[in-house]
Amino acid sequence: MEINRRHFLCGSLLTALGTSTAVVESADAATGVKKLSDGSIEVTVASVKSLAKVGGIALIGDVNGAPTALVRTGAKKYIALDLRCTHADITVKPKAGGFYCEPAQGGHGSAFTKAGAVSQSPADAPLNRLTVTVKGKKVIVS
Ligand code: FES
Repeated sequence: MEINRRHFLCGSLLTALGTSTAVVESADAATGVKKLSDGSIEVTVASVKSLAKVGGIALIGDVNGAPTALVRTGAKKYIALDLRCTHADITVKPKAGGFYCEPAQGGHGSAFTKAGAVSQSPADAPLNRLTVTVKGKKVIVS
């Protein structure tokens, strides 16, 4: 299998978190993530390991230009977060059970819960949410 930059960074992140079981999955690693013609993303939940449990996070790629994470919040409940930091638009990364705006990547250290609420400033607004539609075993994010 060819290892690209995204796979490397995802693996590094998991290693840095000290976890051996993946709680975050990159979209291109997931066979259950499909881009639809209208720019929305369809996720087949059973095919994305990180969404097997409540609290799991999957990075599903861009939804109409917004880097997006899908978070499982209940047995059949999900939220989708626009990962552009509300402070100055740097893309936040999953970290410590939430999301973090890395200073090494141009951010200023804001942190967000996995529900998108601000847990550390300077950001003062939560991450924006996208529309989630659950259709049987699939989730559409638009
Ligand atoms: S851009 Fe995220 S903290 Fe400034």
